[in-house]
Amino acid sequence: MFKFVAHPKHLTMKKVYFLILVALAIPFLFAAFAPYKPEKTNSGQYLVIAWNDLGMHCANLDFSNMCILPPYNNQSAHVILKGSEGVLPVVMPASSGIYVTYEIPGNTESATKTNFWNYSQHLFGVILAPNIGLAGFGMTGTLQKADSINYHHVEGIPITAFPDATPTLSTPYQLTLMKAYSASGQLLATTQSVIPISHEIGCVGSGCHPSELSILNAHEQVPGFNIANKPILCANCHADNALGTTGQAGVDPFSQVIHQKHGFINSGTVNDCYKCHPGPNTQCWRDIMHSTGGVITKCQDCHGSVSNVGNTIDNGRNPWLQEPSCGATTCHGPNYSEQPGKLFRQSKGHGGLFCSTCHSSPHAILPSERPEDNVQNINLQGFAGTLSTCLVCHGYTPTGPGPHGFNPLGIQPVSSERPGKTEILPVFPNPVYSRAIVPFNVAEAGKVTLEVIDLSGAVVTTLVNGELKAGAYHAEFFSSKHLSGTYLCVLRAQGSTCSQKMFVVK
Ligand code: HEC
Ligand code: HEC
Ligand code: HEC
Ligand code: HEC
Ligand code: HEC
Repeated sequence: MFKFVAHPKHLTMKKVYFLILVALAIPFLFAAFAPYKPEKTNSGQYLVIAWNDLGMHCANLDFSNMCILPPYNNQSAHVILKGSEGVLPVVMPASSGIYVTYEIPGNTESATKTNFWNYSQHLFGVILAPNIGLAGFGMTGTLQKADSINYHHVEGIPITAFPDATPTLSTPYQLTLMKAYSASGQLLATTQSVIPISHEIGCVGSGCHPSELSILNAHEQVPGFNIANKPILCANCHADNALGTTGQAGVDPFSQVIHQKHGFINSGTVNDCYKCHPGPNTQCWRDIMHSTGGVITKCQDCHGSVSNVGNTIDNGRNPWLQEPSCGATTCHGPNYSEQPGKLFRQSKGHGGLFCSTCHSSPHAILPSERPEDNVQNINLQGFAGTLSTCLVCHGYTPTGPGPHGFNPLGIQPVSSERPGKTEILPVFPNPVYSRAIVPFNVAEAGKVTLEVIDLSGAVVTTLVNGELKAGAYHAEFFSSKHLSGTYLCVLRAQGSTCSQKMFVVK
């Protein structure tokens, strides 16, 4: 989908996910972050929400000796047409012609900040214009949108951690400015998302290796390795799913050799990983699980030790593509799980939206310790944290179950007077064109289910499944996903069952 022209021998680029690099012991603090005032838009109808895929991308800065990872950052965005009572929000399809542009205010070029472009041909077999990344995108541009997907995406923005104004001050958490336009070029909405980048790859900076050359020299015994060929792309011989290289036959994958070789780093603290992953200054793991410090206090609690990361590859784990999951049985469980067989960054949840739409990236799950990560949701809902304010997208607060069944209102209680009997009242409006209220009474506290079934008896949606107090309630039913026809709303409580007919019309 995103074409990558590569050295024919070594690189067939598929998807590129990058991590870590280079040591810069310059403290960065919060220098480049200023609160953003949303630009006026011509219509308040649309919103755009953007995110980065990994929570951190790493890149070398000096490519004269070797390359672990090139400058390469990804961004994605959904454009959502806000709903209202009776109208569900819509994730805008490609056919709408809506497009999204990106820029990184204050960081317009990389070519004076890294020597990557001097070596791109030697390392990757491609001649790139300065400031153009390996996937063909530059520091500004338009996100791509395919018919098959409901989101916009840009691959391989070649950003460095150095803004134009402070070219020596490492600034790993810069903000993009994303603008969504209608097909006719009218500005619809803007947002800001973090574009995390660090050069803190600590081979030398951690004080472990005296120089990069000493690392290369130590490889001289390896058959086929020729230091005169430097700069060396490690992934040429060691397969690397981040770069899409298959490596040389018989040579172990990069992640396996690097972690197995360094398994002696085993103090059991985050610092083990920050020797190479960014890092004491960047502190790439900055999310709510880090701040709450409950059962999870270090990378190893999710990933295992340094050797474990390598040994699991030896035992068949596919590096970069098989990682921990939120829904692991010991963690959040199936109601908060990724889609089967997919990573967090690949999974979609409520409303067909990516998990990151509401939660942000892995390792930066909101609320984050970095103020930059919180900017977008503060602008959208007024406070930091999970995008949990339904009216941001819906325009009002629905009484139906939202993300993970979460509903701030619960079933709308209409009265707490104890009704004479448990019953379901006529649905209104009926026929249902898009949304209907299902009123029901519960005479005694206890377990209640309210389901919508079709004429074959199949449950098409569950509106209530839980303990309710005695009282009168309204549940809400949305018909847009269901075929026209007759349905029954069925209430079960205290051993009795009652129902009401409902007609869905398109
Ligand atoms: C010309 C091919 C080639 C290149 C390029 C290459 N390696 Fe290797 N490397 C090998 C081979 C072959 C081995 C030994 C077999 C194995 O473990 O897979 C090896 C082994 C290793 C080991 C394990 C060493 C040990 O003592 O167990 C590490 C770590 C390693 N390489 C890191 C790197 C890094 C870092 C780079 C980039 C700077 C790199 N390699 C580039 C071919 C290469
Ligand atoms: C000696 C340096 C070093 C240390 C220490 C280190 N890593 Fe890595 N790690 C790397 C490099 C280099 C890569 C990139 C490999 C590639 O491009 O495929 C990587 C990639 C990864 C990946 C992605 C690839 C995969 O195997 O799925 C994970 C996950 C990971 N590291 C976790 C950790 C954790 C957790 C720790 C600490 C317990 C740690 N690493 C410690 C150097 C290190
Ligand atoms: C709360 C659990 C958790 C902790 C703690 C954690 N990770 Fe991860 N890590 C994950 C998950 C989940 C993924 C897969 C995310 C995805 O790609 O969707 C992942 C993926 C990765 C990857 C592969 C790139 C990516 O984002 O997919 C690397 C590298 C990595 N982690 C390194 C680290 C390091 C280094 C630390 C500590 C500084 C750390 N992780 C702490 C859960 C965790
Ligand atoms: C439309 C927004 C939205 C989407 C999309 C979304 N979530 Fe959530 N998520 C929430 C809300 C709201 C909560 C609960 C309130 C909170 O945590 O602030 C939550 C809570 C969670 C929790 C914490 C549960 C706990 O035990 O506290 C996890 C884990 C989670 N979500 C995972 C996911 C995964 C995995 C996906 C993608 C498959 C996803 N979410 C998609 C909004 C969303
Ligand atoms: C980030 C945007 C976003 C947020 C925040 C959000 N929703 Fe939604 N919601 C959507 C989209 C998009 C749809 C899908 C519309 C469709 O399927 O046509 C949807 C669908 C729904 C539906 C209809 C589901 C169905 O299967 O009929 C309900 C009910 C709902 N949301 C409730 C909530 C509640 C309650 C909250 C707050 C806790 C919430 N939503 C927060 C975007 C959002």
